[in-house]
Amino acid sequence: MNSTNRIELIKGDITRMKVDAIVNAANNSLLGGGGVDGAIHRAAGPELLQATSKLHGCATGDAKITPGFKLPAKFVIHTVGPVWRGGNHHEKELLASAYRRSLEVALENGVKTIAFPNISTGVYGFPKKLAAEIAVKEVKDFLNQNPEIEKVYFVSFGDENYTIYRDLLSKTENT
Ligand code: AR6
Repeated sequence: MNSTNRIELIKGDITRMKVDAIVNAANNSLLGGGGVDGAIHRAAGPELLQATSKLHGCATGDAKITPGFKLPAKFVIHTVGPVWRGGNHHEKELLASAYRRSLEVALENGVKTIAFPNISTGVYGFPKKLAAEIAVKEVKDFLNQNPEIEKVYFVSFGDENYTIYRDLLSKTENT
């Protein structure tokens, strides 16, 4: 089974997604922040911070899992994307790793449906188009190797990311 019909683009708020797991674009402390991280902590309730405080942080490019508490999603997979520092500080590899590790952690926990935000493209300043190309490639490669994952949603909050993903996904439909 190829990856094409297992990827779906959604516009909106990831905290509303009824999936097995949503991915959080967190920071190394895993103690919360702004952007999508803040939204996820608000929607999940204070138990999420209690759970993430016990994880001793997370390296950039790695991922850790907690329950979703008050969220419709069963789990939150917390990953840390790179801060964009011009492109010569392993940013591309680290972003690819954030997507890959999130999917590996998903697989280890029986997650079949998972939603990703556009990791690193907010405060962390990663160029949006490049980030989307990396995200789509990593997800497609992983889906092609792992039939257990049934559906991956890319959830874009803003118009710019949504359009970038829409164009990219329609262009690569048959690959
Ligand atoms: N649902 C989906 N996407 C969202 C939502 C939402 N509710 N809210 C924002 N986005 P950012 P980063 C989009 O800044 O760049 C935090 O403080 C947003 O439009 O949340 O990885 C962490 O604690 C953007 O496209 O994450 C870290 O310190 C995307 O999510 C730092 O920000 C990512 O933007 C991580 O920075």
